[in-house]
Amino acid sequence: MPLVRVTNFAISLDGYGAGEPQSLEAPFGHAGMKLHEWRFATWRPGAPNGVDALFGRQYDVGFGAEIMGANKFGPPGWQDDPDWRGWWGEDPPFHTPTYVLTHRPREPLEMEGGTTFHFLSTSPADALAIAQEAAGDLDVRIGGGATTVRTFVAAGLVDHLHLAMVPLVLGRGTLLWEGLEGLEEQFHIESVVAPSGVVHLSLTRRSPDA
Ligand SMILES: NC(=O)c1ccc[n+]([C@@H]2O[C@H](COP(=O)([O-])OP(=O)(O)OC[C@H]3O[C@@H](n4cnc5c(N)ncnc54)[C@H](OP(=O)(O)O)[C@@H]3O)[C@@H](O)[C@H]2O)c1
Repeated sequence: MPLVRVTNFAISLDGYGAGEPQSLEAPFGHAGMKLHEWRFATWRPGAPNGVDALFGRQYDVGFGAEIMGANKFGPPGWQDDPDWRGWWGEDPPFHTPTYVLTHRPREPLEMEGGTTFHFLSTSPADALAIAQEAAGDLDVRIGGGATTVRTFVAAGLVDHLHLAMVPLVLGRGTLLWEGLEGLEEQFHIESVVAPSGVVHLSLTRRSPDA
């Protein structure tokens, strides 16, 4: 049975998935790239094949589609720029149909490497049904940002989350946990601390019979 998963989603110790304000110059706001440094470090020549590398490599394994929010796809106001094609260049790292939730949808954008961006203004459940149809036997990734992950979790649509909790305090930004009180009752939660200080959290939705 294909799953709906979040993977390699980075949060600060205080639960922020991005800083503020987000802009063309600062996609993650005042967080800069700090939330993602742990993963970049695993790509450097000679980097240890350790805990961070093992989790990092799972980023794109087993997915047939992604759903992301409008603020992941571009900086505030990208909808006013007909030439905006996302942050990732002509060959984005998704390699699947990728559904961008926005209240201002546009025509699909076919990129290189198998990524096609489709723009949807619909409910999370309907967007998921469309993505699952496209993904076939593979899983659907909820790619972020925090608002989109939170919305899908709150709607009961996510089976598993892998979160990388980075040892820094942002103090402000987009919060993952807001409104998700008592989430531990719905998910079995495990954690592993990498030598880098990153805590890898694994949240698996409890089955109704467990
Ligand atoms: N920490 C990580 O690992 C990670 C991963 C991915 C992204 N990010 C970062 O997270 C930040 C973005 O996160 P965010 O929480 O601000 O926003 P987001 O989740 O990317 O996008 C939220 C926006 O998506 C649109 N949207 C959401 N649901 C919708 C629906 N059902 N129908 C229509 N539109 C819908 C709305 O935009 P409109 O009303 O404007 O259309 C909404 O304001 C960026 O800085 C990004 O780089 C971080």
